[in-house]
Amino acid sequence: MGFFGRYLMFIQLLFMNWIGKIGTILASTAFISFFILEGLSLIGVFRSTYTGIVTYFLIPILFVLGLVLLPFAWRKQKKETGTTLHNVFLGKHEDGDVGGHNFWEKVVPVVGILTIVNVLFIVGAGSSAMHYMDESEFCGTACHTIMGPEWQVYSVSPHSRVPCVDCHIGEGVQALAEAKVNGAWQAVAAMFDLYDKPIGTPIHNLRPATETCGKCHWPEKHYGSKLVKIERYRNDEANTKQYTTLNLKVDAANGVGSGIHWHIAENNEVRYSSVDDMREDMIWVEVKQPDGNFKRYTNTNMTDSTFEHAEPRVMDCVDCHNRATHIYEQPGEALDRAMARGLIDVNLPYIKREAMASIITSYEDKATGLSGIQERLESFYAVEYPERDYLSLPGSIEAVQAIYDRNIHPAMKIEWNTYPNHLGHRVEFGCFSCHNFMQHDQSDGCFRCHNRHLVDDAGTSISDECTLCHSILALGEEDPLQYLLDDEFRTFEEHKNTYFREEYLKNF
Ligand code: HEC
Ligand code: HEC
Ligand code: HEC
Ligand code: HEC
Ligand code: HEC
Ligand code: HEC
Repeated sequence: MGFFGRYLMFIQLLFMNWIGKIGTILASTAFISFFILEGLSLIGVFRSTYTGIVTYFLIPILFVLGLVLLPFAWRKQKKETGTTLHNVFLGKHEDGDVGGHNFWEKVVPVVGILTIVNVLFIVGAGSSAMHYMDESEFCGTACHTIMGPEWQVYSVSPHSRVPCVDCHIGEGVQALAEAKVNGAWQAVAAMFDLYDKPIGTPIHNLRPATETCGKCHWPEKHYGSKLVKIERYRNDEANTKQYTTLNLKVDAANGVGSGIHWHIAENNEVRYSSVDDMREDMIWVEVKQPDGNFKRYTNTNMTDSTFEHAEPRVMDCVDCHNRATHIYEQPGEALDRAMARGLIDVNLPYIKREAMASIITSYEDKATGLSGIQERLESFYAVEYPERDYLSLPGSIEAVQAIYDRNIHPAMKIEWNTYPNHLGHRVEFGCFSCHNFMQHDQSDGCFRCHNRHLVDDAGTSISDECTLCHSILALGEEDPLQYLLDDEFRTFEEHKNTYFREEYLKNF
């Protein structure tokens, strides 16, 4: 008898008692099911993260369980018949010990039928559920507490019709397998409350931007420039309106010229290394261009070599558009937008100041937050303006609550600025907004790199010139085109305005 024959005999022997029966059937059914399911998923019968729970989690558990039972079965068998492993492999055992010749006739159908049931169940009954699981609504709502915040901000974003999987799960076999393992892990993490709160960023295993963003946004596209008019409201009684107007130089200018998409223009490569791979504090930044131009900027604040080990990264869309779809707002900006759209009545005295105070307060949970906002605003107007009956107050309070509701999620520890947006930068107020006399640290958004600390060998820093990325046509002014209006140089204010007008016209 060959080795294989002896091995079969061994299994046959194990099959003699009930423990062995369960073990063998579990292990072999799981083993065969795994390959069938995997095959089906490779040829595309289903394509879901959550199939992973079955294929990579449930089935292996059944398989291992089956294997674990076998030694127990063997011990029982040995006790009952006295046959040792040695005897089996030498063929020295009684025929009666192995249950006669109809053994395979019994096992093969059982394993066969169970495998078919397994696969049919998962493909048939499960596949519609799995199809559903692929959809954004499932991703966003099934684990409500965990994904709820991302779902909420996604639903009102420019990408609310782009399925989650289109950005988060790659195409091809490897990406699919990775996603499944990931998905299985996520399901386990959700079940046992093992996930981070808040979910940490940056997401290192996001699908490469060329495959996601690049699929819909043509990379070589010229974006031109874009006039952005921002309406802001002061904290005074009248909620005075003021304008900031920027002409954003969004262009990639054919890969070489000046413009914001220069970084990702064909052939340009910007590489950097950041502390702990967080993409926040840059250690060094390198530029490589097709004409051989190479520059390296190093952070004069970080000479300590312990920072050196962080993984370098080539800049892509997500380095700036990190909030392409999960757009969390700044409290002031969100209020200004709601006021500009008429959702919050600008005629309510001090509404900007009071609404702001009510939403930046830290509340224990969402319900307390929502009622806290209402109480605060209602009592402010009741106490300060008792003679007035503001009809627009309830609607305005609702709009303020909505801002709090979509941005703040105490259950996931998401507060203001938990997820900063890298697409712009913080703005200082007063003279320093444009004149960086003090050379102070400007370290967020674009200023993570465009600051005075990252310098090349010649000591030149990456530019933080106010007109590098946008022309400024008004900065907190009463007229949205303030700097275009004055045409004579009389005061230094107008000197500044003339400068900006000329800069704009030159770039228009
Ligand atoms: C347009 C592409 C896109 C779509 C569509 C998309 N995401 Fe994201 N998502 C991103 C990017 C980019 C990040 C990474 C942010 C970072 O690394 O800082 C991210 C991050 C996340 C995070 C980490 C927390 C956070 O806010 O950064 C979660 C959770 C998440 N996405 C879930 C979802 C869910 C659920 C959906 C569908 C409802 C979805 N995403 C749809 C691009 C997308
Ligand atoms: C499946 C297609 C698709 C994918 C993938 C996609 N986008 Fe978009 N994106 C769109 C569409 C469509 C719009 C226009 C939406 C609108 O105008 O309402 C848009 C709009 C935008 C805008 C303009 C937003 C605004 O406020 O007007 C930016 C910026 C953007 N996408 C960046 C990205 C980035 C970065 C990624 C990758 C993380 C990405 N997109 C992935 C389809 C896509
Ligand atoms: C990872 C670092 C990094 C980040 C983040 C970054 N930049 Fe840059 N940027 C650079 C480098 C490096 C240069 C080239 C400097 C030089 O001339 O050598 C550059 C150049 C530019 C230029 C001039 C392009 C040209 O043709 O010379 C513009 C415009 C620009 N960046 C806009 C932005 C904007 C807007 C943001 C934020 C949304 C931003 N950058 C964020 C590294 C960065
Ligand atoms: C250096 C930072 C930076 C990088 C890298 C970057 N973008 Fe942008 N992008 C911006 C800024 C800033 C804007 C203007 C934002 C606004 O409209 O308020 C913008 C605007 C856009 C818009 C909207 C254009 C319009 O006219 O409204 C799209 C679409 C876009 N980017 C796609 C991409 C894609 C795709 C990639 C990657 C291939 C990418 N961006 C890489 C900074 C960047
Ligand atoms: C919106 C951006 C901006 C703000 C805010 C701003 N300035 Fe200026 N300022 C400029 C520009 C641009 C110039 C002209 C530079 C040039 O012609 O080279 C200028 C010119 C000046 C000059 C003349 C310098 C010279 O070389 O002729 C002085 C002094 C000055 N600003 C002081 C101030 C003070 C004080 C404040 C606060 C009240 C202030 N600036 C606010 C942008 C600004
Ligand atoms: C590296 C590119 C870059 C540089 C340098 C830069 N900005 Fe900006 N700035 C941006 C981008 C991108 C935005 C975001 C525009 C948007 O909201 O779509 C922005 C937004 C702003 C806003 C509007 C903020 C708001 O929402 O109210 C102001 C004001 C501003 N910048 C002023 C300045 C001043 C003043 C300087 C000079 C100290 C400066 N910027 C330098 C890229 C830059």
